[in-house]
Amino acid sequence: MPAIVLVGAQWGDEGKGKATDLLGNRIDYVVKFNGGNNAGHTVVIEQPDGSREKYALHLLPSGILTPGVVPVIANGVVIDLAVLFEEIDGLNARGIDTSRLLVSSNAHVIAGYNKTLDKVTERFLGSRRIGTTGRGIGPTYADKMSRIGIRVQDLFDESILRQKVEAALDVKNELLVKMYNRRAIEVDETVQELLQYVERLRPMVRDTSLELAQALDRGDTVLCEAGQATLLDVDHGTYPYVTSSNAISAGACTGAGIPPTRIDSVIAVLKAYTTRVGEGPFPTELLDDSGEFLRKTGAEYGTTTGRPRRCGWIDTVIGRYAARVNGVTDFVLTKLDVLTGLERVPVCVAYDVDGVRHDEMPVSQSDFHHATPIYEELTGWFEDISHARRYEDLPEACREYVEFVESRIGARISVIGVGPGRDEVVVRHDLLENR
Ligand code: GDP
Ligand code: IMO
Ligand code: MG
Repeated sequence: MPAIVLVGAQWGDEGKGKATDLLGNRIDYVVKFNGGNNAGHTVVIEQPDGSREKYALHLLPSGILTPGVVPVIANGVVIDLAVLFEEIDGLNARGIDTSRLLVSSNAHVIAGYNKTLDKVTERFLGSRRIGTTGRGIGPTYADKMSRIGIRVQDLFDESILRQKVEAALDVKNELLVKMYNRRAIEVDETVQELLQYVERLRPMVRDTSLELAQALDRGDTVLCEAGQATLLDVDHGTYPYVTSSNAISAGACTGAGIPPTRIDSVIAVLKAYTTRVGEGPFPTELLDDSGEFLRKTGAEYGTTTGRPRRCGWIDTVIGRYAARVNGVTDFVLTKLDVLTGLERVPVCVAYDVDGVRHDEMPVSQSDFHHATPIYEELTGWFEDISHARRYEDLPEACREYVEFVESRIGARISVIGVGPGRDEVVVRHDLLENR
């Protein structure tokens, strides 16, 4: 079986963690290829006694919860080593085996100075801030592109590490002291901070691109799981209100070293409504009681920062855009249960920008900022759908909603989420079936 990429279709938090977990026992490798601990994936697993175990993952791919799967942190990820080992220790304490984890020698590490810079830059931007997670993600990717980043492999040669930290701090201390009025950071402090993890890290480090190519040659199934989502992608998202990596499917090629010709299917996770954390345009945002209903019913508070998520109706212009830029073969529609109990369910089908109808994403970001959604209102349903396991179990109005959205987004909806639990899904088409 070739490689599969799983991405978010909107602004993140669509339920990618749950979707990955769903495939868990049928995959051999699960790869995180972009982002870092800005991501937050919640996975809820029902126990044999009926209780529910909840796991919040940030840096480790969600597939780590399935015994036997090899989790991989690939070259496109930026790693906060303290968070990595905290997460590993947390899972080990709960009986999850993390011993198979592989880490790319080319992945970059987040140094303390980049966390500081993320926070002070946001404060300095004031009303123009991005609303980042403050985890040092943007500055670390900026260093990568500026060729002053620190890679995992640099940690194994102290003199090289010291030279690289010195080079980075030469510039950063100027900024921190002269522009932001902060204290200068010592080279030694940073070197020691990074070196403390080196012996724990050593056995995990590999050429993960090679490892994955060999796995694919053997016929193993490799799932690449994106952090963030299409509209947070640095090239294809709502720039500058984006994260600093490529979160679309193509990001798996550069971020994991898997060539495009080996990718067979692309699964996009689409929430039955829309949420966004941080600043930036959001045409279907609801600032009224309906928004509050979605936030409360859907428990829309950030897994990483705890911030309330901005909420709005589903936007099929965005769904169609995601299908196009990712090459989506299957959608997973999540959180359909959250819409239960609404008289009417509005679905955004196009935008009005200064009197002109736009069926596709406007070319200019300013137009997107001014876009007013054009809605079609569908009939709601009141039945509890959380026990539905077959498509026929869903009420007719619910199926009409699914089929209406499907007709607009240009790829089939293969799985429907009806609750947070691993088993709370309706499968219409097998996601791993050979196409
Ligand atoms: P991710 O970042 O894309 O992995 O998503 P998050 O984990 O940040 O947010 C999705 C939230 O929705 C999590 O709390 C999941 O447990 C929950 N969730 C996922 N699918 C469903 C669903 O179908 N119904 C409900 N009610 N909750 C879901
Ligand atoms: P998952 O993987 C939702 C948002 C931040 C901010 C912007 C830039 O759980 O879907 P950054 O710290 O990345 O520089 O912040 O991106 N953001 C996310 N929003 N889900 C995420 O991840 C996010 N990761 C980053 O809120 O607006
Ligand atoms: Mg999340």
